[in-house]
Amino acid sequence: MKKTWWKESVVYQIYPRSFMDSNGDGIGDLPGIISKLDYLKQLGVHVVWLCPVYQSPNDDNGYDISDYQQIMDEFGTMEDWEQLLEGLHQRGMKLIMDLVVNHSSDEHHWFAESRKSTDNQYRDYYIWRPGKDGREPNDWASFFSGSAWQKDEATDEYYLHLFSSKQPDLNWENETVREEIYRMMTWWLDKGIDGFRMDVINLISKNPELPDAHTPDPGIGTMPPDEGQTYHFGGQHFVNGPRVHEYLQEMNRKVLSRYDIMTVGETVNVTPEDGALYVGEDRNELNMVFHFELMQVDSGPGGKWDIRPWRLSEIKQVISKWQTLLHNKGWNSNYLNNHDQPRMVSRFGNDSVYRKPSAKMLATLLHTLQGTPYIYQGEEIGMTNIRLSSIDDYRDIETLNMYQEYKEAGRDTDAIMESIYIKSRDNARTPMQWDGTEQAGFTKGQPWISVNPNYTDINVQEALADPDSIFYYYQRLIELRRQEPIIVYGDYTVLQPEDEQLFAYIRSYEGQKLLVVLNFTDQAQPFKLDAHVSYHEPQLLISNYGGDHGRELAEEARSHNLRSLSLEPYEARVYLWQE
Ligand code: NOJ
Repeated sequence: MKKTWWKESVVYQIYPRSFMDSNGDGIGDLPGIISKLDYLKQLGVHVVWLCPVYQSPNDDNGYDISDYQQIMDEFGTMEDWEQLLEGLHQRGMKLIMDLVVNHSSDEHHWFAESRKSTDNQYRDYYIWRPGKDGREPNDWASFFSGSAWQKDEATDEYYLHLFSSKQPDLNWENETVREEIYRMMTWWLDKGIDGFRMDVINLISKNPELPDAHTPDPGIGTMPPDEGQTYHFGGQHFVNGPRVHEYLQEMNRKVLSRYDIMTVGETVNVTPEDGALYVGEDRNELNMVFHFELMQVDSGPGGKWDIRPWRLSEIKQVISKWQTLLHNKGWNSNYLNNHDQPRMVSRFGNDSVYRKPSAKMLATLLHTLQGTPYIYQGEEIGMTNIRLSSIDDYRDIETLNMYQEYKEAGRDTDAIMESIYIKSRDNARTPMQWDGTEQAGFTKGQPWISVNPNYTDINVQEALADPDSIFYYYQRLIELRRQEPIIVYGDYTVLQPEDEQLFAYIRSYEGQKLLVVLNFTDQAQPFKLDAHVSYHEPQLLISNYGGDHGRELAEEARSHNLRSLSLEPYEARVYLWQE
């Protein structure tokens, strides 16, 4: 397997709006991020992924871009951005930017022109169609509720928007559009950035006939249940569409391959087989993809808001499939939350009594799989989901549209709010909790979205003062990955895949073995190492229980008895030995 810097790196994702506000307007900004670079250095991460900071009317918090080469006023200036890049590079860290080119904002000048007339020179930059029988051109639903088409008065035609009506889809069939995008990417790369995270990149190629979806399909799960609905998920006509690989290979040839950078594509509804086509090392497309299979383990047939409990065996099945299928072919990206997902400790761990051990246990999983770990801001201090008392306190367009649609369909308000508490994207978007002062030290003003009231207990200042904190555990995991190549490059074998309490696996590399055992429950659990796994003088590399128990564990390892272990609630242990 080829060795590269981005396989050995740990990425930290920043959602700028919620990270740090420097000027008291309640909105995080670039100078705010710059003021926290030493914090990131202390954590030890190698790469920062910055969510969109471009000019935007903020219908979807920056994922609706009106100028790809300007910085959003609320976030600062291009000089601030340059200082950020320099500050990262000076500290030995890299910067990757969010590339949002499935769609632009309707306030982009391309679209302002495009909508003017059917023969405007920008008309074909977007996907326009006349209506059919007095209705939309087809029955596709938008990911953010309602139809994926918006009628535009000026020409009496409809444009396609897979997301909000302020996010018209760009027409990748048009070569001029592609050239504009490549030019813009080159411009950023020439400024010295180290790569891109590519927003919903597997949706850029649509079946040009734009056929009806017809068949109900809950899709990536952001859709309401389909029965009786007017609009349907049309994924079969745009997920991994007909020309997507051609486009990415072209982008790679014309832009990406000319730089030493990393790329990670957000790809909805992909299987590992699809994933291999994007990241196969011989395919010259992307380095990694973010898949959604793990994010769907707690969704029912009705999609994201149809919530069901997850099962550990399914989590293992998904992870094992991706670990095995990409091995020696491509590279995995591993994440347990981001700005679109609930907080991992609330979702897969325990955000009350066992918040600290369970956050550390999940971190152990994230950092000991094959693939590049992605940490989302606040994860390293164990930030949790939030319950805002009124829908008026929510800000996320997906949440607000769903609420509206479900209300109109006559659903029970309390039930809707319950699903929002579990799944809303705003769970991850509350301000970063820096200290115990008012507004968690995030802003001197009124934050754009409420601070989680638990900031008095859960904050960076507290974490830095506690040697046993989640923060320092992350720091150790990040260091370990650098010290032990087996963690990066070793292959992966799952043990006891059907077990619903423990997740255990073995990594192997150049005569070494690593055993990871994770307790996903709030009960003590016995673990028996399969008889066919032989071991030799194991060393306890890391565990999330300190104090006396930690000493006992180290002792146990020295006594070389791994056959029969007993794990505390949410305990994680990692052993290493030479064969
Ligand atoms: C995925 C992004 O992560 C999400 O925040 C956004 O709403 C959609 N793509 C549309 O750009």
